[in-house]
Amino acid sequence: MNIITLLQPPRIVFGNGCAPQCAEFLAARGVKRALLVSSTTVLPLLGAVTDALKKSGVDFVNSAPVDREPTQALFENILSFARAEKIDGVLGIGGGSAIDVAKLVAALTRGKQTTSEIFGTNLLVGRDLTLVCLPTTAGTGAEVSPNAILLDESDELKKGVVSPHLVPDAAFVDPLLTLTVPPAVTAATGLDALTHCIEAYANKFAHPIVDTYALSGVKLIAKNLARAVRDGNDIEARAALSLGSLYGGLCLGPVNTAAVHALAYPLGGRYHIAHGVSNALLLPHVLRFNFSAAPERYAEISAALGVTRNGSALTTAEHGVEFLTQLSFDCGVPQKLSDLKIPHDAIPWLAGSAIKVQRLLKNNLRVLTEADAARIYEAAY
Ligand SMILES: [Fe+2]
Repeated sequence: MNIITLLQPPRIVFGNGCAPQCAEFLAARGVKRALLVSSTTVLPLLGAVTDALKKSGVDFVNSAPVDREPTQALFENILSFARAEKIDGVLGIGGGSAIDVAKLVAALTRGKQTTSEIFGTNLLVGRDLTLVCLPTTAGTGAEVSPNAILLDESDELKKGVVSPHLVPDAAFVDPLLTLTVPPAVTAATGLDALTHCIEAYANKFAHPIVDTYALSGVKLIAKNLARAVRDGNDIEARAALSLGSLYGGLCLGPVNTAAVHALAYPLGGRYHIAHGVSNALLLPHVLRFNFSAAPERYAEISAALGVTRNGSALTTAEHGVEFLTQLSFDCGVPQKLSDLKIPHDAIPWLAGSAIKVQRLLKNNLRVLTEADAARIYEAAY
């Protein structure tokens, strides 16, 4: 069995209506003036949270909204603002984009490092500010993970920061915050969370502790995603997805993702395809590439998806992929790279970029070369 280290927020609060409790937590930590990092669509939903902040005596100031996957330039603007405002805590409320910005602002506002110095694994030296995160999608799992991603526009690449200092002090996961998420975003973010669970379970560094989260997440998301896409107000389905997404997030620190995410990054970097859509589109093709390395693991994923075991492990694994393709189609997610207007001659560039994401490719069960990556993009075209 591999050695594993679990780094999770010391406080994880989960449940309908728990969001305003974040105010008490910030006050108890002595935070006097927080930076609230959110988005244009989320801000109007935060009345109960901002009332609770006022009641608890926590002053707050809004950052510029994070309305899309954040660029390094947007992040630097928010960081300068945070420094000028003399904040002593950060509250990130939103999807992965807002939360990633919140995490990095909390780390760098009083830090001496520049953003470029911390890209990579374990390069960030510390974090001085209290950091509390609330997800409004289900989701990236960013509220519990040690990761943050920014888009470096100069080389069209998404760059990751991985550090234990990015794990928030507290995460409040309130499924009610996800009720207004539109169907397309529900679908994409849900398939992203499902991919976290699948890639952590079928992973070179898989571990029984994380397997428990991963399989529980697969079951919850497979059962409830189409329901929440059809009816956004289905509170039971929303809560199940929030829990599944939290499980997916808990997989990210100790084990993390693999080739699906590595191949998805260049689609976001150059073509601005949403993270969840990129993952959903590549998922079946990468899984088929990987099957032969661990057919039994993929058969177990199929069983968690609700597929009846029938025939060999490979056959059951294939039925699982058919289920995933159908689920993604039923949720209205684009199925081909050509549907996203990505030129066919972009494939060599995509493959060349993906192969640079070794921090994730090293986790993949099967060694994946640049030529393999090109074949996978071709299959997904
Ligand atoms: Fe992801």
